Order: sequence, then structure tokens, then C-alpha cells
Amino acid sequence: MTTPSDTTLTDQEKKLSVIVHPHPTLRHKSKPILRVDDQLRDYIAQMFELMYSSKGVGLAANQVNLPIQLFVVNPAGKKDEGEEMVFINPVLSRPKGSEQAEEGCLSLPGVFGEVVRAAEIDVEAYTHMGQHIKLRATGYLARILQHEFDHLNGVMFFDRMSEAKRLEIQDEISEFEDDYQVRTSIGNVESAEQWQAWIRKLESRYCVK
Ligand code: NI
Repeated sequence: MTTPSDTTLTDQEKKLSVIVHPHPTLRHKSKPILRVDDQLRDYIAQMFELMYSSKGVGLAANQVNLPIQLFVVNPAGKKDEGEEMVFINPVLSRPKGSEQAEEGCLSLPGVFGEVVRAAEIDVEAYTHMGQHIKLRATGYLARILQHEFDHLNGVMFFDRMSEAKRLEIQDEISEFEDDYQVRTSIGNVESAEQWQAWIRKLESRYCVK
């Protein structure tokens, strides 16, 4: 027999912040969302705010410690400009061509590198309002979609870089890892057990019918 897990969220758990490399949620493979509630809509609003305040154009849920298949995008990167797009349970297909360009990531602030991506790609997803999205993306939007989709699978942009290009930014990446190590050693990082409990709680709330 199992007892149903308590999925009630504390006030602290309702408030999002961006996590940085090498936080384990960034390497967690997110599960599909089977349930949308008011809390999730509030999380999405917070994600847009965090994205704008950090001058980003896309933000994936696991970058705010939510292990679920969701990301938000606004290619203009500014509130009241461009278009706010929400992608739930996205599927990418039919990649075509390739383009190399520089990318950065809010979970690795200040670090940039050249990444080769498909030039065009199809995306299918749902919005938080239950609308089905299907579009063929090109250019900058195609790149953003591939970067954010990777996050949901636990992939960081530097994983996609050539060995030679990645070596150029390895010292900067290592600084984030050293910093995390220090915070772990002084007990400033949640334990593996606490982290697993959080993942289970979120998955029970959003990824189970
Ligand atoms: Ni990113």
C-alpha cells in the first residue's frame, strides 16, 4: 500500500528563481504535464518576469527548478514587445539545414558559445490555455526552440558545442562548478534527498493524472 503524496506547496515553493549550472534539475529529464492548474499559470507568469529581468528570450521550467515539460519564449526579450509564447509538452520534428551562431543561457550567466542548430524545425505543443500549437520555425525562433527543448531533456548548450569551441569557455564553466562545490560544502545547497523529494512532489502534482 502507498499513501498518496502530499503535493501542497509552501509559500517558498510557490516563488520561483533561476537556478544555475551545475544544479541537478538542469540535468533532469522532464516529464510531460498532464494537469494545468492556477498555480502552474502563476508559475508561467513568474517565468516571463524572470526571463525579462535577466534579459533572456526563452526560459525552460527546469531552469526555475520545475522538472516538467514547459518553456516560455519571447524572441523580442522585452515585456510589451514581440509575442509571448508558452510551450507545454513540445515535440520538435523535421529539422532542415544548419546554422552556427552564438548562444547564452540564463543558467550560465555571462558565458557564450557558438552552437550549430537546424535552420528550420517544426514544433508542436499546447499552451496553458489548452490551445494546440503547430508551426514551422526558422531563424532566431528555431534556435531558441531547440535551445529550450534541450533544457527539458537535461541538455545544456555547451554540450552541443565542438570540443575546440567548448574548451575556450571551459574555465568559465568550471567557475560555476567550483562555486556550487563551495556552496555544497558549507551546507548552502539542498541535500540529494531533499532534491529528490522536490522532484517527486512536482511530478506527482503535474505529471500524474
Ligand atoms: Ni538556456
